[in-house]
Amino acid sequence: MEEHLTVGRVAELAGVSVRTLHHYDEIGLVQPSARTAAGYRAYSASDVERLREVLAYRRLGFALRDIADLVDDPATDAVAHLHRLRGLLLEQRDRAAAMVTAIDTELKARAMGIETTSEERLRVLGAQLYDAIGSAYPATRRTEPRIAARVWAALGDARTVLNVGAGTGSYEPPDRDVTAVEPSAVMRAQRPVGAAPCVAASAESLPFEDQSFDAAMAFSTVHHWQDPIAGLREMRRVARRVVVFTYDASTTGWLQRFWLTRDYLPEFAGLLTDWPSLADLTRAIGGHAEPVLIPWDCADGFFEAHWRRPEAYLEEDVRRAVSVWTRVGPQAEQRAVNGLRDDLSSGRWAERNRDLVALDAAELGLRLLIA
Ligand SMILES: C[S@@+](CC[C@H](N)C(=O)[O-])C[C@H]1O[C@@H](n2cnc3c(N)ncnc32)[C@H](O)[C@@H]1O
Repeated sequence: MEEHLTVGRVAELAGVSVRTLHHYDEIGLVQPSARTAAGYRAYSASDVERLREVLAYRRLGFALRDIADLVDDPATDAVAHLHRLRGLLLEQRDRAAAMVTAIDTELKARAMGIETTSEERLRVLGAQLYDAIGSAYPATRRTEPRIAARVWAALGDARTVLNVGAGTGSYEPPDRDVTAVEPSAVMRAQRPVGAAPCVAASAESLPFEDQSFDAAMAFSTVHHWQDPIAGLREMRRVARRVVVFTYDASTTGWLQRFWLTRDYLPEFAGLLTDWPSLADLTRAIGGHAEPVLIPWDCADGFFEAHWRRPEAYLEEDVRRAVSVWTRVGPQAEQRAVNGLRDDLSSGRWAERNRDLVALDAAELGLRLLIA
C-alpha cells in the first residue's frame, strides 16, 4: 500500500514550515493529492518526489517561478533532476571552499597590514576552486615519468591528442600534436611558454566536432567535473581513443589502506559521496581499467604521492597544491596535520605503518581507464 504523509510530518522531515507547504499548495506548485484515513490531505510518494525537487532547487537559490518551469519540464525525469541537483550542489560546495580560501588569503594579508585592491575583494565572491588554489599548484605538481609513460603508451599511435582539464600540462606527450582544454584562467596562465595551445572550456561541453582527435586524455581531473559521466561521454564523442587517470571510489578498501585517510582525514570519504563507480566511469567511455601503483618517490605531489614520506604532509606548500585539503575545510585539515605531527614524533606512525617501508610502490586506488 502506498505510504501517505501528513503536512505536519512532511514539514518535520524536510525541515520546512507547514506555512511554506501550504503556500506551495496554494500557488499550485506542490499540491498533496492523497487523503489520510481521517480525510485530511496528504502527500503521496510522487508528491514527495516533486516537493523534494522544489525544496532542493529552492535551497540552491532558484526563484519559485523558475522552479515551477524546471519541475514541470516533461523532458526531465526524477533521475535527471537528481543528476542536475548533484552537479549544482558540488559546484556550490567547491565555490564555498574556494571562498573560504580566498577569505583566508585576505585575512592573512590584512593581518600583515597589506591593503587588498577592489578587484581582489570582488574576486572572493566569484572564486572558482582552481582560480583560488591554482597558484599554489606548480610548487609540487609536475610530471611523474613512470606514470606519464603508462599514459603515453595507452595513447597508442594517436597523433592528435586532446588533453581535458589540462592544468599546467604535466602529462602532455611532447611528441604529438596536443590541444589542451582548461576552464581555470589561473591554471591556463601558468602553462609554460611553448606549451600546447589551450582552449577555455569544460569537459562537459567540449567545443569540438565529433571524432576530431585521435585520442583524448584526462589526468587527475575527472573528480573535479560537475558531471563526470557527461564529460567522459564528451571525450568519447570527440576522440577515437580515450585515456583517463582517476581513482576507484567504488570500494572503500583502499580508503582504509591509505593511512592518511584512515587515521587522520576520514573527511575524505565525504568528498566521494555519490562519486560514480569505476564501472560507471569505464562504461561511459566503453573501456577497461588498469591499476596504477604509486611509486614511493612519486615526483608529482598529488594527494597519495607521499604515502611513504609522511613528513611531506606537514608542509603547507605540499597541501596547498592538492585540492582535497581545501575541500575538507581548515578545521579538518588542522586536526589531521596536528595528529600526524604528534604520531610522527611519538613513533606511533612508524609503528602502525611499519609494513610500508619495504614497499617500492603502493596500490591506493588509482586507475588508468583506457578505451
Ligand atoms: C588536479 S588538476 C590536474 C591538472 C592536470 N591534468 C595535471 O595533471 O597536472 C585538475 C584540473 O581540472 C580542472 N577542471 C576543473 N573542472 C573541470 C571541468 N569541468 N572540465 C575540465 N577541467 C576541469 C581544474 O581547473 C584543474 O586545472
